[in-house]
Amino acid sequence: MKRIAVFTSGGDAPGMNACIRAVVRGAVYHGIEVFGIRRGYSGMIAGDIFQMSSHSVSNIVQRGGTILKSARSKEFITPEGRRLAYDQMQKHGIEGLIAIGGNGTFTGAMIFNNEYGIPTVGAPGTIDNDLYGTDYTIGFDTAVNTALDAIDRIRDTASSHDRVFFIEVMGRDSGYIAIQSGIGGGAELVMVPEVLTPISEVVETLRQGWLRSKASSIVVVAEGEEEGSASEIADKIKSQIKEDIDMRVTTLGHTQRGGSPSAYDRILASRLGLGALEGLLAGQKNVMAGIINNELVYTPFEDTIRLPKPINEDLLRMVKILSI
Ligand code: F6P
Repeated sequence: MKRIAVFTSGGDAPGMNACIRAVVRGAVYHGIEVFGIRRGYSGMIAGDIFQMSSHSVSNIVQRGGTILKSARSKEFITPEGRRLAYDQMQKHGIEGLIAIGGNGTFTGAMIFNNEYGIPTVGAPGTIDNDLYGTDYTIGFDTAVNTALDAIDRIRDTASSHDRVFFIEVMGRDSGYIAIQSGIGGGAELVMVPEVLTPISEVVETLRQGWLRSKASSIVVVAEGEEEGSASEIADKIKSQIKEDIDMRVTTLGHTQRGGSPSAYDRILASRLGLGALEGLLAGQKNVMAGIINNELVYTPFEDTIRLPKPINEDLLRMVKILSI
């Protein structure tokens, strides 16, 4: 293999730049030509492809977002779109790909490889930490710390006013960000899609806090929660209680996607970027590089896409015990 390309796709995540840097510098080290593709599969179809050098990735290890930009391409889902993408790969002489992204990205890569035989190795880049085959994904640690910072600030004002806050965090269908930021922020309750938390249980937990004269209560709600959004849950609770409790709702939203990556994410992204590249050069294809128990491993895309990544229910139990 003499020439490869790297791209980022799906929702951006802090640390993607550190990962791109590791791929590019790794390629230079191994004497391979490396190209960047802008805006993921959309750029692949449009031919937005350029040669990169060691200098192209100077001064980016600390930057949030992705210098290659990102997109969710509808066109790549169609056979015609993938044909156009393949034509561009041929035109630029690209023999292998490094895809930094999540499940949607890897699904596209797998189909593309099955149709056109271009080997791809993935690096898990998503704040959601919802990928089977790695303990942590690039961007998750930073997102948790961003959410935690917001929760700490909200705790200050919640305590001053004796209020209950419902704080909604991201995570799509996964409760990882909610659990970790909830534990770190001393939340009274964490609501996640993976485990049913009936509204009656939320009311009961809050009531126990009022009975013990708690100055404030924080409920962290994952965006995919079955009972609804944080504001829907707050409304349901208001309609079920007689007490005159002051409640507020904050949705943290895309603040969790930006910002300078944490030390952990920079190191993880560097390891996964180089690991993905060296895997590709060693003949791996249709796999995602991951770190499990501090070891670099490769997991077939099929498994990362198909297999669920269960949350640790012991951590939810701990939230309940520690909020007494
Ligand atoms: O997958 C990352 C993520 O931030 C999810 O947590 C969230 O559900 C989604 O992307 C939001 O996507 P968009 O930026 O397209 O609104």
